[in-house]
Amino acid sequence: MKPLNPSGGLLWHWRGWRHQARWRPTQDHMAQWLLTLQPTSDRLLLIGASAGWMLPNVWLKRFKHIEIWDLDPLAPWFFSRRHGQALKKARVDWHYKTGDALGRLPELLAQNPDAFVFFDNVLGQLRFMHRIDDPDEKVLRSERLLKTLVAQLQGRHWASIHDRLSGPVDETVAQRAVLSARNSQVMHEERQQLRSDRAWLNILGAKGEWLDHLTAQVFPPGTPVKDMAWPFLPTYWHWLQAGEVRP
Ligand SMILES: C[S@@+](CC[C@H](N)C(=O)[O-])C[C@H]1O[C@@H](n2cnc3c(N)ncnc32)[C@H](O)[C@@H]1O
Repeated sequence: MKPLNPSGGLLWHWRGWRHQARWRPTQDHMAQWLLTLQPTSDRLLLIGASAGWMLPNVWLKRFKHIEIWDLDPLAPWFFSRRHGQALKKARVDWHYKTGDALGRLPELLAQNPDAFVFFDNVLGQLRFMHRIDDPDEKVLRSERLLKTLVAQLQGRHWASIHDRLSGPVDETVAQRAVLSARNSQVMHEERQQLRSDRAWLNILGAKGEWLDHLTAQVFPPGTPVKDMAWPFLPTYWHWLQAGEVRP
């Protein structure tokens, strides 16, 4: 297991620590959304958590048992530093496991039959994870894997926050103090969805070409979603989308 992977590892931890102040408004939007979720289970299966750079303790403490997964072998140490004390005080029983949680999702779901499942900014990373050169093949494989994962989740209560698109923003927008978020839903019609996406990208001040994180089909049509601006770097922003799917 290497301390560096394309979507996590040392660079990720450095960014999470370094950009805390700039990411805070997005974290607040995310916390507000997480607190609207009503899992009926007190067990959480948390996938792609890294150090939980964006996760609020107040939400984690709602669960009695948490099983956490990430590929990154450094993540448990960073997670423990960030959340360990609060979870211990709240007597939350948590275990961190290192490995490919997406590749063994059916096994994890079977081992945690009642758990609420949360994908923490990982489903938009798949196109960076394949060790192949052909970009078209990367896209195809990522889309195929996402479809498989969604099918495996059938009948479960789950939620995800993930990148939809990312790219450069207008500098005047990037200097805005208040960051945008909106409540929306996954449209049934493609044309309607495109109109809605364009309006949101306008609000974000998107310019130039934005990268598709291939997650447009993750939530079924009609799913209520929260769209959030995430100033990942000063003038390179991500569009994060959060949604919940009930059985
Ligand atoms: C963009 S980072 C987000 C990390 C974390 N959710 C946060 O906000 O700090 C994506 C994380 O997903 C992890 N990851 C990617 N593929 C994974 C997989 N198949 N199984 C488990 N973790 C994975 C990476 O190691 C990385 O830590």
